Amino acid sequence: MNVATAVKHDIANAALAAEGKKKIEWAERNMPVLAQIRERFEKEQPFKGIRISACMHVTTETANLMRALKAGGAELALCASNPLSTQDDTAAALVHEYGISVFARNAVDRDGYYSHINASLDIQPHLVFDDGCDLVNTLHTTRTELIDGIIGGCEETTTGVIRLSQMTKDGALKFPMIAVNDTDTKHMFDNRFGTGQSTLDAIFRSTNSLVAGKTFVVAGFGYCGKGVAERAKGMGADVIITEIDPTKALDALMQGYRVMPMTEAAKYGDIYVTVTGNRDVLREEHFKIMKDGAILSNAGHFDIEIDVAWLEKNAKTKNAKMRHQTDEYVMADGRRILLLAEGRLVNLGAAEGHPASVMDMSFSDQALTAEYLLKAAASLGAGLHEVPTEIDKEVARLKLESMGSTIDKLTPAQVKYLSSWDHGS
Ligand SMILES: NC(=O)c1ccc[n+]([C@@H]2O[C@H](COP(=O)([O-])OP(=O)(O)OC[C@H]3O[C@@H](n4cnc5c(N)ncnc54)[C@H](O)[C@@H]3O)[C@@H](O)[C@H]2O)c1
Repeated sequence: MNVATAVKHDIANAALAAEGKKKIEWAERNMPVLAQIRERFEKEQPFKGIRISACMHVTTETANLMRALKAGGAELALCASNPLSTQDDTAAALVHEYGISVFARNAVDRDGYYSHINASLDIQPHLVFDDGCDLVNTLHTTRTELIDGIIGGCEETTTGVIRLSQMTKDGALKFPMIAVNDTDTKHMFDNRFGTGQSTLDAIFRSTNSLVAGKTFVVAGFGYCGKGVAERAKGMGADVIITEIDPTKALDALMQGYRVMPMTEAAKYGDIYVTVTGNRDVLREEHFKIMKDGAILSNAGHFDIEIDVAWLEKNAKTKNAKMRHQTDEYVMADGRRILLLAEGRLVNLGAAEGHPASVMDMSFSDQALTAEYLLKAAASLGAGLHEVPTEIDKEVARLKLESMGSTIDKLTPAQVKYLSSWDHGS
């Protein structure tokens, strides 16, 4: 361990620090855009004197974001945005190898989860990073004394953006928050390719199931759902989509998927993934008609998409932890239903979350947006705001460059043509 344990923390096991450091450095290899930003931050110190509370998944990729912000002069306190996603070795390395305050333990209970959020707020932040809006919600309900000191913050995921836009409509949000989720370089890649790959990865790690030839039901054909469906189809599954939005359903149909209501799909599915950001997507009426051995998982932000409480209450027997993050519920009629990662974000609970290479873009967006917030907060005002397009395009440009790809540039005649209106047929 290199760093004296001067920083405040609550982590599971300090002895995991060396292992965590190796993994953080492995992720760093695939995060070249964030590495460039970190180098610039180190020289320019944009966060000197700034305290940041971050409520995010405590993974190796988040660790690299924290390192970039610290290099830029920030004082940090990190807590988890999901009780199952914390990588205890990463948390240990952040504290003991990089001197960053962390309050996170894998599988912490609800009280522990909120006590960690509160501990990370004790730093009295100027900036906040949230993933799902639990930190911002805590600030507006039980830690209101801290609100005056806050310049603003960034939100990472769709569910958080939905909650923040509701707060903005109600006039409840007291400082500017920026919807990092809504950049093209985040939701078109992280939500789609990241969730697609890592959700399948989680299903493999927990069940070792063959996807080819299986009926694979995806609830929600948004950015994440598209990613999951594409990967499952690519591996030979017969994919069924359920939706509540007619345009999304039409899109799915025209891409060759079967589309039907869940009351119908529940008769056929071997493997289910809910990814809607909504609640009770899989519930009693569906559990009652599912096949023996059906595998249920959720990749949406909160653990309310599958009605786990019903399974807990009504199953004849629960065989917990049959395999890694796999609980089996035996129904009264003998059918077995398998639930992965307790119905929480499966790709983070049963696997490692998105590959670093895709988080490189999401977290570069986060880092550059935080820098922008410091300059722009006064003019933005309280409420939810968008990331400036220049940041989005710059991250895409740097990522392309890092992947060895170049694109065309507009010729002067093309620039002129695109800015004129008088050139008809
Ligand atoms: N697992 C991860 O790593 C990860 C990554 C990014 C986002 N997320 C979360 O995943 C969820 C979805 O995100 P997104 O970006 O795809 O959102 P999105 O808004 O693009 O898609 C959600 C889709 O679900 C549909 N839907 C809503 N209720 C439904 C229901 N009852 N049945 C069927 N479909 C329904 C909506 O019409 C929409 O098309 C959010 O909770 C988000 O925070 C998870």
